[in-house]
Amino acid sequence: MVVSDAAYWEARYRAGEAGWDLGGPCPVFVELLDSPMAPPKGRVAFPGCGMGHDVRLFLDRGYDAVGFDFATRPEGVPVVPLDVFEIGRRYPEAFDAVVEYTCYCAIDPGRRAEYAAALRAALRPGGLLVVLAFPVERRDAGPPFGIEESEITGVLGAGMDLLHFETPRSSVEPRRGRERLAILRKR
Ligand SMILES: C[S@@+](CC[C@H](N)C(=O)[O-])C[C@H]1O[C@@H](n2cnc3c(N)ncnc32)[C@H](O)[C@@H]1O
Repeated sequence: MVVSDAAYWEARYRAGEAGWDLGGPCPVFVELLDSPMAPPKGRVAFPGCGMGHDVRLFLDRGYDAVGFDFATRPEGVPVVPLDVFEIGRRYPEAFDAVVEYTCYCAIDPGRRAEYAAALRAALRPGGLLVVLAFPVERRDAGPPFGIEESEITGVLGAGMDLLHFETPRSSVEPRRGRERLAILRKR
């Protein structure tokens, strides 16, 4: 599928067709870091981080944050050029937290379980998977490919303990009501 190739995403960025890019940190993560639910400080991975705005946010707040993306090289943000399906093999149990935002909806929907397993493998036991799922709705085509709410625990968080689940109020306007924030812990 075309979304599995870096060339597809590179072309979208080159053509200025990166409509998903918020131009700054996601307000849901800003609110999370200001709350008692903020993940403990540690090593945090951002698969499919795009221009790395959220990586920068976590770095600024004292986390050891790193992004992974096979199509972007943002300046001043640590981004490793890697296919996200490789993250568990290359970084086994290396992270205290993994933050998933708009990569799950960007990959081939037939590879979602594989992607989720890769993220879990990159987490240390007891580590947190922070999921901001978007778009939680039915869609005929993508990217972004639609997400069913049940997939958040059933696929992304399979075998993990759910610590928190909400429909955030601080989502950017076009995404309000279409996002779910979940925090899951690896056993
Ligand atoms: C929809 S964009 C979202 C970017 C970023 N999370 C954001 O919120 O702005 C999806 C990103 O995932 C990256 N991506 C998609 N599939 C990937 C893969 N298999 N390996 C690495 N990066 C991937 C793309 O290059 C793109 O930057």
